[in-house]
Amino acid sequence: MKVTVIGAGNVGATVAECVARKDMVEQVVLIDIVDGLPQGKALDMAQSAPIHLFDTRIVGTNDYADTANSDICVITAGLARKPGMSRDDLLGKNASIVQSVTQQFAAHSPNAIIIVVSNPLDVMTYVAYMASGFPSNRVMGMAGVLDTARYRAFISAELGVSVRDINALLMGGHGDTMVPLPRFTTVAGIPLPELMPAEKINAIVERTKFGGGEIVKLMGTSAWYAPGAAAAEMVEAIVKDSGRVLPCAVWLNGEFGQQGIFVGAPTRLGKNGVEEIVKIDLTADEMALMQHSSDDVRTNIEALKRIQSA
Ligand code: LAC
Repeated sequence: MKVTVIGAGNVGATVAECVARKDMVEQVVLIDIVDGLPQGKALDMAQSAPIHLFDTRIVGTNDYADTANSDICVITAGLARKPGMSRDDLLGKNASIVQSVTQQFAAHSPNAIIIVVSNPLDVMTYVAYMASGFPSNRVMGMAGVLDTARYRAFISAELGVSVRDINALLMGGHGDTMVPLPRFTTVAGIPLPELMPAEKINAIVERTKFGGGEIVKLMGTSAWYAPGAAAAEMVEAIVKDSGRVLPCAVWLNGEFGQQGIFVGAPTRLGKNGVEEIVKIDLTADEMALMQHSSDDVRTNIEALKRIQSA
């Protein structure tokens, strides 16, 4: 198996390292337009193999020919947020980058599965879907795994329980209107509302929604450890054909009342990429939040179309 990571910045390099350290694929290719950057990072990572004990070969390159016949591709290329910017401010520039790298990649690996990480996430996944021409089961976005990881980390810290015992569901777009669902959050099977007062849950939900921005504010650029680990977890589910159910940005065709957009929903992952979008009955309140968040994604797609036709 061969995994390509496009973009050798902090997120891309972390994805490559996390995938390599799982020691589950033969090759990871790290590609970037900056000459020397992917080569240097790949060499550095390869030299950690005798310490971390993995046999995955890591190749750094500027040439898409080296990505040929990849099974999975993680797209991290694009600009990252600076303080005061929302993910949506990156729309026009990142759309042309994601479109271009997707076309170059897809030409060499027509059967691959694409996982998009570039922001604004849900719209960039749509851009990659259009640019690749791949069927919708082979294109998805990474956001829900990151956002639920943040949510679970906050719950763990608050309750003093192991992260291992926290299971959570989060839907909607990867923006400030994302929809964490406390009703579907459990600690060792115990519903969260039985363990925490509603105000505390609300505070954690709010902190999760702005979890990316909290980090941008602290260090002047956006996060990479948790985003990289999250994308690698999705890669693992596909490589191992495990059937893990993870929240992913997926093409909705009527599910949850949404049509023709990528937005976060519970997804069973396997060797074909999206094996199933898991349907659940949402309450009227939850549906309203999902609708609101999906409307934000649609607004962004319309804004992108205006930028592209200008
Ligand atoms: C974040 C960026 C990666 O949420 O969107 O940290």
